[in-house]
Amino acid sequence: MNKLVSISDCTKEDLLHIVNLAEKFEKNPNPHLLDGKLVATLFFEPSTRTRLSFETAVQRLGGRVIGFSDAATSSSSKGETLHDTIKMVSNYVDLIVMRHPIEGAARYASEITNIPVINAGDGSNQHPTQTMLDLYSIKKTQGTLENLTISMVGDLKYGRTVHSLLMAMRFFNPTYHFVAPNELKLPAQYPEFMRKNNIKFDEREDMNSVLADSDILYMTRVQQERFTDLVEYEKVKNTYTLRSNMLEGTKSNLKILHPLPRINEIAPDVDDNPKAYYFEQARNGVFARQAVICSILGMC
Ligand code: CP
Repeated sequence: MNKLVSISDCTKEDLLHIVNLAEKFEKNPNPHLLDGKLVATLFFEPSTRTRLSFETAVQRLGGRVIGFSDAATSSSSKGETLHDTIKMVSNYVDLIVMRHPIEGAARYASEITNIPVINAGDGSNQHPTQTMLDLYSIKKTQGTLENLTISMVGDLKYGRTVHSLLMAMRFFNPTYHFVAPNELKLPAQYPEFMRKNNIKFDEREDMNSVLADSDILYMTRVQQERFTDLVEYEKVKNTYTLRSNMLEGTKSNLKILHPLPRINEIAPDVDDNPKAYYFEQARNGVFARQAVICSILGMC
Protein backbone atom coordinates (compact mmCIF):
# COMPACT_ATOMS: atom_id res chain seq x y z
CA MET A 1 0.00 0.00 0.00
CA ASN A 2 1.28 3.53 -0.76
CA LYS A 3 -1.90 5.28 0.43
CA LEU A 4 -5.13 4.31 2.20
CA VAL A 5 -8.13 6.04 0.70
CA SER A 6 -10.74 3.29 0.48
CA ILE A 7 -11.04 -0.24 1.79
CA SER A 8 -12.11 -1.23 -1.72
CA ASP A 9 -8.48 -0.67 -2.80
CA CYS A 10 -7.19 -3.27 -0.30
CA THR A 11 -6.54 -6.93 -1.01
CA LYS A 12 -7.11 -9.66 1.56
CA GLU A 13 -3.33 -9.80 1.98
CA ASP A 14 -3.22 -6.04 2.70
CA LEU A 15 -5.84 -6.41 5.43
CA LEU A 16 -4.18 -9.43 7.04
CA HIS A 17 -0.80 -7.70 6.87
CA ILE A 18 -2.17 -4.74 8.85
CA VAL A 19 -3.91 -6.95 11.41
CA ASN A 20 -0.73 -8.97 11.94
CA LEU A 21 1.39 -5.83 12.18
CA ALA A 22 -1.01 -4.28 14.70
CA GLU A 23 -0.54 -7.32 16.90
CA LYS A 24 3.26 -6.95 16.62
CA PHE A 25 3.12 -3.26 17.54
CA GLU A 26 0.96 -4.02 20.55
CA LYS A 27 3.34 -6.76 21.74
CA ASN A 28 6.61 -5.01 20.83
CA PRO A 29 6.50 -1.20 20.91
CA ASN A 30 9.24 0.33 18.75
CA PRO A 31 9.90 3.83 20.09
CA HIS A 32 12.35 4.86 17.34
CA LEU A 33 10.84 3.43 14.16
CA LEU A 34 9.57 6.84 13.00
CA ASP A 35 12.55 8.91 14.18
CA GLY A 36 12.89 11.88 11.81
CA LYS A 37 9.44 11.44 10.25
CA LEU A 38 6.84 14.18 10.28
CA VAL A 39 3.10 13.52 9.82
CA ALA A 40 0.34 16.09 9.20
CA THR A 41 -3.12 15.54 10.67
CA LEU A 42 -5.58 17.75 8.79
CA PHE A 43 -9.02 17.50 10.39
CA PHE A 44 -11.72 19.49 8.62
CA GLU A 45 -14.32 17.72 10.82
CA PRO A 46 -14.40 17.05 14.57
CA SER A 47 -12.68 13.99 16.00
CA THR A 48 -11.51 12.63 19.32
CA ARG A 49 -10.35 9.05 18.74
CA THR A 50 -9.12 9.13 15.18
CA ARG A 51 -6.96 12.22 15.47
CA LEU A 52 -5.63 11.50 18.94
CA SER A 53 -4.89 7.85 18.21
CA PHE A 54 -3.08 8.79 15.00
CA GLU A 55 -1.03 11.35 16.90
CA THR A 56 -0.37 8.87 19.69
CA ALA A 57 0.61 6.23 17.14
CA VAL A 58 3.17 8.51 15.50
CA GLN A 59 4.63 9.95 18.69
CA ARG A 60 4.96 6.57 20.41
CA LEU A 61 7.04 5.46 17.42
CA GLY A 62 9.33 8.50 17.70
CA GLY A 63 7.79 10.58 14.90
CA ARG A 64 6.35 14.07 15.15
CA VAL A 65 3.03 15.60 14.18
CA ILE A 66 1.81 18.95 12.85
CA GLY A 67 -1.70 19.88 11.77
CA PHE A 68 -5.02 21.33 12.78
CA SER A 69 -8.08 19.95 14.51
CA ASP A 70 -10.39 22.75 13.44
CA ALA A 71 -10.47 24.00 9.86
CA ALA A 72 -11.58 27.40 11.18
CA THR A 73 -8.02 27.93 12.39
CA SER A 74 -6.54 27.12 8.98
CA SER A 75 -6.45 29.28 5.85
CA SER A 76 -9.32 27.28 4.39
CA SER A 77 -11.44 29.69 6.48
CA LYS A 78 -10.02 32.49 4.27
CA GLY A 79 -11.02 30.64 1.12
CA GLU A 80 -7.92 28.56 0.36
CA THR A 81 -8.88 25.51 -1.67
CA LEU A 82 -8.30 21.93 -0.60
CA HIS A 83 -6.02 21.62 -3.62
CA ASP A 84 -3.75 24.42 -2.43
CA THR A 85 -3.84 23.25 1.19
CA ILE A 86 -2.66 19.77 0.17
CA LYS A 87 0.03 21.17 -2.14
CA MET A 88 1.32 23.37 0.67
CA VAL A 89 1.32 20.74 3.40
CA SER A 90 3.06 18.32 1.04
CA ASN A 91 6.07 20.65 1.19
CA TYR A 92 6.44 20.04 4.90
CA VAL A 93 5.70 16.43 5.83
CA ASP A 94 6.20 12.77 4.92
CA LEU A 95 2.55 11.71 5.22
CA ILE A 96 -0.88 13.36 5.36
CA VAL A 97 -3.78 12.07 7.46
CA MET A 98 -6.98 13.86 6.51
CA ARG A 99 -10.62 13.92 7.62
CA HIS A 100 -12.99 15.92 5.42
CA PRO A 101 -16.79 16.23 5.16
CA ILE A 102 -16.87 15.76 1.37
CA GLU A 103 -17.07 12.23 0.00
CA GLY A 104 -14.09 11.59 -2.25
CA ALA A 105 -11.96 14.34 -0.69
CA ALA A 106 -9.22 11.90 0.36
CA ARG A 107 -9.08 10.38 -3.13
CA TYR A 108 -8.81 13.87 -4.59
CA ALA A 109 -6.04 14.79 -2.16
CA SER A 110 -4.11 11.62 -3.01
CA GLU A 111 -4.21 12.53 -6.69
CA ILE A 112 -2.66 15.98 -6.28
CA THR A 113 0.31 15.09 -4.08
CA ASN A 114 3.23 12.73 -4.31
CA ILE A 115 3.27 11.99 -0.61
CA PRO A 116 1.02 9.29 0.89
CA VAL A 117 -2.49 10.19 2.07
CA ILE A 118 -4.52 8.33 4.67
CA ASN A 119 -8.27 8.85 4.71
CA ALA A 120 -9.42 9.50 8.28
CA GLY A 121 -13.05 9.72 7.15
CA ASP A 122 -14.64 11.39 4.11
CA GLY A 123 -18.27 12.33 4.67
CA SER A 124 -20.53 9.29 4.77
CA ASN A 125 -18.28 7.36 2.44
CA GLN A 126 -15.35 5.56 4.05
CA HIS A 127 -13.29 5.34 7.24
CA PRO A 128 -10.69 2.74 6.33
CA THR A 129 -8.40 3.01 9.35
CA GLN A 130 -11.43 2.49 11.63
CA THR A 131 -11.93 -0.71 9.68
CA MET A 132 -8.35 -1.78 10.33
CA LEU A 133 -8.85 -1.41 14.08
CA ASP A 134 -12.25 -3.10 13.82
CA LEU A 135 -10.66 -6.06 12.05
CA TYR A 136 -7.92 -6.22 14.66
CA SER A 137 -10.55 -6.09 17.43
CA ILE A 138 -12.60 -8.85 15.80
CA LYS A 139 -9.51 -11.04 15.33
CA LYS A 140 -8.41 -10.48 18.95
CA THR A 141 -11.79 -11.29 20.42
CA GLN A 142 -12.91 -14.10 18.12
CA GLY A 143 -9.55 -15.67 17.26
CA THR A 144 -10.50 -15.51 13.57
CA LEU A 145 -12.03 -13.25 10.95
CA GLU A 146 -13.67 -16.16 9.13
CA ASN A 147 -17.30 -17.33 9.14
CA LEU A 148 -18.63 -14.86 11.71
CA THR A 149 -22.18 -13.56 12.14
CA ILE A 150 -22.00 -9.80 12.36
CA SER A 151 -24.98 -7.60 13.20
CA MET A 152 -24.72 -3.91 12.37
CA VAL A 153 -27.26 -1.71 14.10
CA GLY A 154 -28.27 1.94 13.78
CA ASP A 155 -27.35 4.47 11.14
CA LEU A 156 -26.37 2.31 8.20
CA LYS A 157 -27.12 5.10 5.73
CA TYR A 158 -24.60 7.68 6.90
CA GLY A 159 -22.29 5.46 8.97
CA ARG A 160 -19.00 5.39 7.07
CA THR A 161 -17.49 2.87 9.48
CA VAL A 162 -20.23 0.43 8.50
CA HIS A 163 -19.59 0.98 4.80
CA SER A 164 -15.87 0.33 5.13
CA LEU A 165 -16.19 -2.69 7.43
CA LEU A 166 -18.81 -4.50 5.38
CA MET A 167 -16.55 -4.20 2.33
CA ALA A 168 -13.46 -5.42 4.17
CA MET A 169 -15.20 -8.50 5.54
CA ARG A 170 -16.04 -9.71 2.01
CA PHE A 171 -12.88 -11.82 2.10
CA PHE A 172 -13.89 -13.70 5.25
CA ASN A 173 -17.28 -15.29 4.51
CA PRO A 174 -19.41 -13.29 6.97
CA THR A 175 -23.14 -13.53 7.56
CA TYR A 176 -24.63 -10.08 8.11
CA HIS A 177 -27.75 -8.83 9.82
CA PHE A 178 -28.30 -5.14 9.03
CA VAL A 179 -30.66 -3.52 11.53
CA ALA A 180 -31.94 0.00 10.84
CA PRO A 181 -35.14 1.99 10.62
CA ASN A 182 -36.32 2.41 7.06
CA GLU A 183 -34.93 5.97 6.92
CA LEU A 184 -31.40 4.77 7.79
CA LYS A 185 -31.10 1.62 5.70
CA LEU A 186 -27.91 0.90 3.78
CA PRO A 187 -27.57 2.90 0.55
CA ALA A 188 -28.45 0.73 -2.45
CA GLN A 189 -24.88 0.21 -3.61
CA TYR A 190 -24.03 -1.86 -0.53
CA PRO A 191 -26.69 -4.59 -0.88
CA GLU A 192 -25.70 -4.63 -4.53
CA PHE A 193 -22.05 -5.07 -3.51
CA MET A 194 -22.97 -8.00 -1.26
CA ARG A 195 -25.04 -9.73 -3.92
CA LYS A 196 -22.16 -9.42 -6.37
CA ASN A 197 -19.75 -10.87 -3.80
CA ASN A 198 -22.12 -13.67 -2.71
CA ILE A 199 -22.22 -12.40 0.88
CA LYS A 200 -25.08 -13.68 3.04
CA PHE A 201 -27.12 -10.84 4.52
CA ASP A 202 -30.56 -9.69 5.58
CA GLU A 203 -32.03 -6.31 6.46
CA ARG A 204 -34.49 -5.79 9.31
CA GLU A 205 -35.72 -3.27 11.87
CA ASP A 206 -35.86 -5.37 15.07
CA MET A 207 -32.60 -5.42 17.04
CA ASN A 208 -33.82 -8.07 19.50
CA SER A 209 -34.15 -10.61 16.71
CA VAL A 210 -30.40 -10.60 15.92
CA LEU A 211 -28.94 -10.81 19.41
CA ALA A 212 -29.04 -14.60 19.90
CA ASP A 213 -26.92 -15.68 16.93
CA SER A 214 -24.45 -12.77 16.64
CA ASP A 215 -20.71 -13.09 17.20
CA ILE A 216 -20.24 -9.34 16.79
CA LEU A 217 -22.84 -6.68 17.52
CA TYR A 218 -21.65 -3.48 15.84
CA MET A 219 -23.66 -0.56 17.26
CA THR A 220 -23.55 2.87 15.61
CA ARG A 221 -24.60 6.42 16.41
CA VAL A 222 -27.24 8.21 14.35
CA GLN A 223 -25.09 10.78 12.54
CA GLN A 224 -26.89 14.01 13.32
CA GLU A 225 -24.35 16.08 11.35
CA ARG A 226 -25.34 14.41 8.06
CA PHE A 227 -29.05 15.31 8.29
CA THR A 228 -30.25 18.33 6.33
CA ASP A 229 -33.58 18.26 8.20
CA LEU A 230 -33.28 17.98 12.00
CA VAL A 231 -36.94 16.98 12.27
CA GLU A 232 -35.95 13.78 10.45
CA TYR A 233 -33.09 13.26 12.92
CA GLU A 234 -35.45 13.68 15.89
CA LYS A 235 -37.70 10.96 14.47
CA VAL A 236 -34.98 8.30 14.39
CA LYS A 237 -32.42 9.34 17.00
CA ASN A 238 -33.74 7.05 19.75
CA THR A 239 -34.64 4.02 17.66
CA TYR A 240 -32.23 1.60 19.39
CA THR A 241 -30.79 1.41 22.89
CA LEU A 242 -28.85 -1.67 23.92
CA ARG A 243 -29.16 -2.50 27.64
CA SER A 244 -27.19 -5.04 29.65
CA ASN A 245 -30.22 -7.26 30.38
CA MET A 246 -30.74 -7.69 26.63
CA LEU A 247 -27.44 -9.62 26.49
CA GLU A 248 -28.77 -12.53 28.54
CA GLY A 249 -28.93 -15.63 26.37
CA THR A 250 -26.47 -14.29 23.79
CA LYS A 251 -23.45 -16.30 22.63
CA SER A 252 -20.55 -16.53 25.08
CA ASN A 253 -18.15 -15.14 22.47
CA LEU A 254 -20.35 -12.15 21.58
CA LYS A 255 -18.57 -8.80 21.69
CA ILE A 256 -20.20 -5.38 21.44
CA LEU A 257 -18.29 -3.02 19.18
CA HIS A 258 -18.99 0.65 18.49
CA PRO A 259 -16.74 3.08 16.61
CA LEU A 260 -17.77 5.77 19.16
CA PRO A 261 -18.76 8.38 20.07
CA ARG A 262 -21.99 6.92 21.44
CA ILE A 263 -24.99 9.01 22.33
CA ASN A 264 -27.69 6.78 23.78
CA GLU A 265 -27.56 3.64 21.63
CA ILE A 266 -25.59 1.77 24.32
CA ALA A 267 -26.82 2.30 27.87
CA PRO A 268 -24.07 2.90 30.47
CA ASP A 269 -24.98 -0.35 32.25
CA VAL A 270 -23.53 -2.29 29.30
CA ASP A 271 -20.05 -0.89 30.04
CA ASP A 272 -19.50 -3.33 32.91
CA ASN A 273 -20.73 -6.32 30.94
CA PRO A 274 -17.80 -8.56 29.84
CA LYS A 275 -19.27 -8.53 26.33
CA ALA A 276 -18.67 -4.77 26.01
CA TYR A 277 -15.50 -4.17 23.99
CA TYR A 278 -15.80 -0.63 22.59
CA PHE A 279 -13.24 1.07 24.82
CA GLU A 280 -10.64 -1.64 24.15
CA GLN A 281 -11.58 -1.35 20.48
CA ALA A 282 -10.64 2.35 20.56
CA ARG A 283 -7.34 1.46 22.25
CA ASN A 284 -6.60 -0.97 19.42
CA GLY A 285 -6.74 2.06 17.11
CA VAL A 286 -3.24 3.09 18.16
CA PHE A 287 -1.71 -0.23 17.08
CA ALA A 288 -3.74 -0.52 13.90
CA ARG A 289 -2.79 3.02 12.90
CA GLN A 290 0.88 2.38 13.66
CA ALA A 291 0.60 -0.59 11.33
CA VAL A 292 -1.02 1.47 8.57
CA ILE A 293 1.49 4.33 8.85
CA CYS A 294 4.56 2.12 8.81
CA SER A 295 3.21 0.00 6.00
CA ILE A 296 2.45 3.05 3.86
CA LEU A 297 5.87 4.56 4.56
CA GLY A 298 7.44 1.27 3.49
CA MET A 299 8.99 0.67 6.91
CA CYS A 300 7.36 -2.68 7.68
N1 CP B 1 -14.48 6.45 15.56
C1 CP B 1 -14.24 7.75 15.25
O1 CP B 1 -14.03 8.09 14.07
O2 CP B 1 -14.23 8.60 16.30
P1 CP B 1 -13.87 10.15 16.23
O3 CP B 1 -14.93 10.82 15.38
O4 CP B 1 -13.85 10.64 17.63
O5 CP B 1 -12.54 10.25 15.53
